[in-house]
Amino acid sequence: MVDMRKVTVNASKTYDIIIKKGAIDLVGNLTKDIIAQGKVCVISDSNVAPLYMERVKNSLSKEGIKAKEYVFPAGEKSKNAQTYIEILNFLAQGGFTRKDTLIALGGGVTGDLTGFCAATYMRGIKFIQLPTSLLAAVDSSVGGKTGIDLSCGKNLAGAFYQPSMVIFDSDVLKTLSKEYFADGMAEVIKYAMIKGEGLDKLILAEELDIEEIVERCVKIKRDIVNADEFESGIRQILNFGHTVGHAIEAQSDYTISHGRCVAMGMYIVTKAYKCENLCKQLFKMLEKFNLKTNCPYTPKEILERAKKDKKADSSGVNLIVSKEMGKCEIVKITMDELLLLIKEGMK
Ligand code: GLY
Repeated sequence: MVDMRKVTVNASKTYDIIIKKGAIDLVGNLTKDIIAQGKVCVISDSNVAPLYMERVKNSLSKEGIKAKEYVFPAGEKSKNAQTYIEILNFLAQGGFTRKDTLIALGGGVTGDLTGFCAATYMRGIKFIQLPTSLLAAVDSSVGGKTGIDLSCGKNLAGAFYQPSMVIFDSDVLKTLSKEYFADGMAEVIKYAMIKGEGLDKLILAEELDIEEIVERCVKIKRDIVNADEFESGIRQILNFGHTVGHAIEAQSDYTISHGRCVAMGMYIVTKAYKCENLCKQLFKMLEKFNLKTNCPYTPKEILERAKKDKKADSSGVNLIVSKEMGKCEIVKITMDELLLLIKEGMK
């Protein structure tokens, strides 16, 4: 297919990430070999389904594939055990078997939820990611992290379970609000900070080449996931800005978006390490997308939340630190040290 960018992941499963304008209308053609003769259920939320569900189903139908749909109320609050069980029951009542396929049409919530259903329904069925947000395209749709939130915290139940394909139609970003777009750019800025690949220049360019940006980000993620699918080592660098960011997100009761919290988290840690030049470069990139660096909570409030993060233990936490654009390291610190760092970073 012409003008199609393709990045191949070689983890426990080998699969392609396709980046192409208008790919939503090619879903049937691109996925027919994966779906084979099986049934399909397209899972989406109440914001995204009205925009793209019919187009996805029409594209499948052109290949003779009839799809069922399941639409849940949009928002992080739906990424819970109740929606998860409802979807599993929907699949069971519809006679779905191990040969069948789920398609996640939406952002991070839809991808994580659908992926977890796929990982666990009949001990695992195929699933395909169609990310419709920038954040999902550059991060959550790739690498196989699936899950749901529990009342005690985000993503506390889940599985590493790779999709069979990821298809990103860059045209979908046209329907994304500035705020959602900026949220995804925070993750793009994260990749620039930890791995570089010329992303800082692309981010600051007058006109954004979004397909090039997405391709560079997913190539970085592909290399990291290939090397450490289950996050026992290098994959942790993808958590740059997230230790503090997740704590801010929890403290806000999830009223401040993930990307905005990661932006604050990246800035606080970089400032704490007194890397002035890098701090200025980071600030410039964040400012371009109106991503704020001033956190509305106290260091102590953030620390209390960070202690409850699933990645922290009694000895402390692995913090990701960048001291130079495109480079980062994993530093094991105690919770007392983290408090001092947060205080320094918020001065
Ligand atoms: N979002 C971080 C990761 O996939 O590891």
